[in-house]
Amino acid sequence: MKIKLIFGSDTGNTDYVVDTYIINLLDPFEVSVTEVHNLKPKDWDTEDFILLGIPTWYDGDLQSDWEDYYDEFTQIDFTGKTVAIFGLGDQIGYSEYFVDGIGVLAKVIMHNGGNIIGHWPTKDYDYDESKALVNEDYFYGLAIDEDNESDLTFERVDKWIKQLKKEINQIKSIPKNLDLA
Ligand SMILES: Cc1cc2nc3c(=O)[nH]c(=O)nc-3n(C[C@H](O)[C@H](O)[C@H](O)COP(=O)(O)O)c2cc1C
Repeated sequence: MKIKLIFGSDTGNTDYVVDTYIINLLDPFEVSVTEVHNLKPKDWDTEDFILLGIPTWYDGDLQSDWEDYYDEFTQIDFTGKTVAIFGLGDQIGYSEYFVDGIGVLAKVIMHNGGNIIGHWPTKDYDYDESKALVNEDYFYGLAIDEDNESDLTFERVDKWIKQLKKEINQIKSIPKNLDLA
């Protein structure tokens, strides 16, 4: 199984989390990394498992590269694709918009036929509102708060990636010809 990791970063925090934790913890998967501003349409033409990284900016907006790319993103057909999302945010400074970007991307992916794995519990965070909620107990993906809880990032990423590996294995063990409808 190969992994295609796509992310954007304005002030380097997401970049840091990718380089320092995510790539190492994804070992032994083969990972290719692309920043959103370098994306080409053919990048989505892949059987790889897709991992997306997005920080939230300016009261619930997408990081600038994701913002520029958003219209094109809404045109991608995610049918048959499995995607997981991690998002960076600040639960204290932007408590009403915490990791909104995760939710914005998740909704497009689901609307366009994709399958999101890696839902993450909300219980260890303290925020008021978020567009990233599946329900009050889960975010659509991993929430990382480098602004206030960088000491927890390694542990969170480690646990989430172990969860993803399990979920990927479950998907792989479902026979392709099985009609799940
Ligand atoms: C001006 C500004 C606006 C922000 N807006 C939000 C927000 O609406 N929601 C949120 O969860 N985090 C918000 N943040 C926090 C960033 O998402 C956080 O600092 C993140 O780690 C930045 O990642 P990057 O360096 O990869 O761009 C904001 C930060 C700044 C400086």
